[in-house]
Amino acid sequence: MPNNDIILSVNHLVTAFDTEGGRIKAVDDISFQVNKAHTLGLVGESGCGKSVTALSVMRLLPKPAGVIESGQILFNNTDIASLPADQMHEIRGKRIAMIFQEPMTSLNPVHRIGQQIGEVFQLHFPEMGESDITTASLELLNKVGIPEPEQRMVEYPHQISGGMRQRVMIALALACKPDILIADEPTTALDVTIQAQILDLIQKLQQETGMAVIFITHDLGVIAEICEDVVVMYAGKVAETASVIQLFKNPKHPYTQGLLDSIPRLETPRKTRLNIIKGMVPGLTELPSGCRFRNRCPHAMEICATEPPPSMQVGEDHFAACYLHV
Ligand SMILES: Nc1ncnc2c1ncn2[C@@H]1O[C@H](COP(=O)(O)OP(=O)(O)OP(=O)(O)O)[C@@H](O)[C@H]1O
Ligand SMILES: [Mg+2]
Repeated sequence: MPNNDIILSVNHLVTAFDTEGGRIKAVDDISFQVNKAHTLGLVGESGCGKSVTALSVMRLLPKPAGVIESGQILFNNTDIASLPADQMHEIRGKRIAMIFQEPMTSLNPVHRIGQQIGEVFQLHFPEMGESDITTASLELLNKVGIPEPEQRMVEYPHQISGGMRQRVMIALALACKPDILIADEPTTALDVTIQAQILDLIQKLQQETGMAVIFITHDLGVIAEICEDVVVMYAGKVAETASVIQLFKNPKHPYTQGLLDSIPRLETPRKTRLNIIKGMVPGLTELPSGCRFRNRCPHAMEICATEPPPSMQVGEDHFAACYLHV
């Protein structure tokens, strides 16, 4: 029975790249759900497949190397993994929008900000006239907290600060009131104060519009602050999915436990070293057999080298892919 609270359901998604060394699976059989109006955090170390997951949902994989090999991405019960490109065009940017880590690469440096916002309206609402577009653009810039929006409209991206550029990116993403906003490390390039402002802004806009947010980060502190649900990824697989409360209170996967142990805490005496997880994420061409985390895992057992561990239910809406829980 379809669950009406779920807006996006990723089922057994496999996304691969054709490289000189052959085909590699950057995302290998992952499943997770996004609830309406909720914020889902996607967390994991660098290279674990967070951005590839986001680009798969947006159908923006680099072509021709990147392909969705199998699996489903159900958006409102339509499988967008296999949707023809022209139909995906109707959804991308309008129903599912994304903000990227480095706004300079996704804003056009030679177009004025007003023009770039106007283009989004033109593309998705061709019936809008010029003055309507100007009014809507100003309203949008106001909404994302950009002071003196009339002035900003005629400026170029390099003329405004990084924090303001990120706000422009958010304005562009929100122009069509999407059902899902994917934010891929939208604050990592910003200083801490601006980061906090951007997080507040995303949360405020989410409350107003009821959109779902997929928030990608390697920062568990950010996850704790803004997410309801969490997916922990490791080397192209999902290690654990849980509510944010369960994940912090009762982490079940040794990888999640390691990530949590590496967060600096107030009570940690200064100058003591944090418990970082030993070793590195394996490259996709040198994955160990069985569980991909086993070489770094303090609990590794014989069985871990055999087959990849299945996802096990360990609580209500709580799953971990680990033989400790089989
Ligand atoms: N265009 C590509 N061609 C080949 N491999 C790629 C390509 N893009 C990504 N990959 C590989 O896919 C894997 C996952 O990359 P991805 O960018 O999703 O990681 P990530 O979790 O977003 O990391 P980060 O936190 O650094 O952004 C990596 O091993 C990466 O090298
Ligand atoms: Mg990334």
